[in-house]
Amino acid sequence: MAKKVVFSGIQPSGVLHIGNYLGAIQQWVEGQAKYDNIFCVVDLHAITVPQDPKELTDNIYRTAATYLAAGINPRQSIVFVQSQVPAHAELAWLLNTITTMGELSRMTQFKDKSQKGGSGRASVGLFDYPVLMAADILLYGTQAVPVGEDQTQHVELARDLAQRFNHRFGKTFPVPEVILRKSGARIMGLDDPTKKMSKSASPANYIALTDSSDVIRKKIMRAVTDSGSTIKFDPKRAGLHNLLTIYQLFSGQTEAQIERHFAGKGYGDLKRELADLVIGKLTPLQTKIEHYMKNKRLLDAILKSGAKRAARLAHPMLTEVKRKLGLAQ
Ligand code: AMP
Ligand code: TRP
Repeated sequence: MAKKVVFSGIQPSGVLHIGNYLGAIQQWVEGQAKYDNIFCVVDLHAITVPQDPKELTDNIYRTAATYLAAGINPRQSIVFVQSQVPAHAELAWLLNTITTMGELSRMTQFKDKSQKGGSGRASVGLFDYPVLMAADILLYGTQAVPVGEDQTQHVELARDLAQRFNHRFGKTFPVPEVILRKSGARIMGLDDPTKKMSKSASPANYIALTDSSDVIRKKIMRAVTDSGSTIKFDPKRAGLHNLLTIYQLFSGQTEAQIERHFAGKGYGDLKRELADLVIGKLTPLQTKIEHYMKNKRLLDAILKSGAKRAARLAHPMLTEVKRKLGLAQ
């Protein structure tokens, strides 16, 4: 049986944190052999909010380098930059014509992000962001989309648009499913475990993939917990639960193993061991990222070849969509 087509992406804006790594990249790596994968650096999404052009270029490379350093194999999976395959923007325009203002107005990420800049000041691009994401997904006949929980509403829109297009113009797109991890789909902020870890929060909220060992240790030691003492996976103790989840995902151990290991120990022990574990995992990742960052020629070659493969895959779908709409061929 043919493998399922998987597509996912991360915006090259700001720092990547362990929420991005555990919610998205780590599950991409785990599913790499099981699926036919396409992993994209979604730079056209990043420019929906103001970006410094120099920083953006650097972040595009860094995001791609992170995929590769984390274990995405470009011979096995397609790795490329969204703006290098024009079909994404083109399909987004076509899908715009079957998307309603009402649907996009209901997107919670748009509501959050547009409120921050003041009403009426959000760009049209920010409003249209979910349609571009639907285009990313549908362009390749994608069947599954591994993301963190915050993206489910966007994938839902992609499903609706696939069904709507199929209904109006004849079967064209598979209806994609979201893949969420049982644990890790929502890593919480270290300073406020009631909200998701986010790069737009203060640095105490997240562990950046680029944080030094000292910074990682400080952030973990200061992470908000409660006044309890036993170490158990209890969703009601949000801060503790989050630290244990991070421990679980970096160690690969089961809940039972972890609870047994920490039986009789205190929060301080957990935090110290967690810091050692995270540092032990991120240090080699950082070394590999820097290796790619120093080797831009290699990175460019990988991304160019990825873009070529992606464009070749996208072409028949875009042609079919245009034909079904009755556009000149
Ligand atoms: P972004 O940085 O917004 O482009 O997000 C990239 C990926 O990381 C998406 O799949 C998000 O769902 C995922 N992600 C972002 N924040 C978190 C978090 N706190 N926990 C789990 N996944 C996350
Ligand atoms: N919107 C996603 C995020 O912020 C990034 C993204 C863009 C994406 N296009 C996508 C994720 C297609 C999965 C599939 O996380």
